[in-house]
Amino acid sequence: MGEASERRILVTGALGQIGMELLRALSFKHGSNAIIATDIRETNDLEKMGIKFQKLDILDLEGLEDIIKNFKINEVYHLAAILSASGEKNPSLCWDINVNGLLNVLELSRKYKYRIFSPSSIAVFGSDVGKIALQNSLLNPSTIYGITKVTGELMAEYYHSSHDVDIRGLRYPGLISWEVMPGGGTTDYAVEIFHAATSSKKYTCFVSEETRLPMMYMKDAIRATLELMDAPSEKLTIRGGYNLPSLSFSAKELSEKIKEEILDFECEYIPDHRQEYANSWPDDVDGSMSEKEWGFSLEYDLDLMCKEMISSLKNN
Ligand SMILES: NC(=O)c1ccc[n+]([C@@H]2O[C@H](COP(=O)([O-])OP(=O)(O)OC[C@H]3O[C@@H](n4cnc5c(N)ncnc54)[C@H](O)[C@@H]3O)[C@@H](O)[C@H]2O)c1
Repeated sequence: MGEASERRILVTGALGQIGMELLRALSFKHGSNAIIATDIRETNDLEKMGIKFQKLDILDLEGLEDIIKNFKINEVYHLAAILSASGEKNPSLCWDINVNGLLNVLELSRKYKYRIFSPSSIAVFGSDVGKIALQNSLLNPSTIYGITKVTGELMAEYYHSSHDVDIRGLRYPGLISWEVMPGGGTTDYAVEIFHAATSSKKYTCFVSEETRLPMMYMKDAIRATLELMDAPSEKLTIRGGYNLPSLSFSAKELSEKIKEEILDFECEYIPDHRQEYANSWPDDVDGSMSEKEWGFSLEYDLDLMCKEMISSLKNN
């Protein structure tokens, strides 16, 4: 990869929870002219950021190749996906987009030699993993979403070792951000609770109060993404997905923390079908390989994240 100004970046699934914040960070770092954003949905919102947008279904191999060729793309952030709760409703669509979409991105990289970022998830783990998931813990997911993510990790390792594709991946925990509502995941409660707390001051949480999952503030996740993509290739021994150092808190600890800022906030807990997915995931992950191989550490703890989420939502 050349100097920052030479980057020609494609973002797929760019209008989602991560995409919109990643676009802002990439455009700050490399300039908005370096980026083309794509998604299956339409938007006019990126014009004011000076970022080009093109509608693209990730399953459209010819359309994807046209963009890669025309814009001389040398870096792809592949975010187009179906998340866990939506995936369980439509397993075949989840497989198609998460696996065949990634396959399109990988196949074209053999020809055009671009670097790829492809996120994995803590959903690769299943209930046999115990409370803390290690980098090399068993991967026995119980959701179709998790199965597509394990497959994606294996594909990344294979295309890297057998076809020299420079792909990098992170097992994101649940990501907490205020700008865009999350897109049908199990950890969405940890975002919805802030929106409810700063508007109606009441929230009905769809997992039980003792549910504890690995989480991270979006700013740390975006920084991890950019740092991994800039890391020297020879330092990386994992291509499918690095565990990340994460926060680990229960739904009740989160609502109690919010109550410190919004005294009359009330939260009740009525678990639905998503409780089962949450139960199958670990409480925490060991992210020491990320610290060791490319130097990542968290900046936001629960306290700082809650303060920033609440003040951002109140001011916007
Ligand atoms: N947000 C999280 O907490 C989280 C946690 C772990 C992993 N991840 C992973 O990060 C990536 C991005 O997640 P996100 O939270 O931004 O998801 P999101 O659902 O908010 O965004 C995904 C985007 O993909 C688009 N999309 C769906 N089908 C498409 C298709 N056929 N072609 C092109 N675009 C299509 C959607 O319109 C959407 O804008 C995914 O791979 C997800 O599995 C996210």
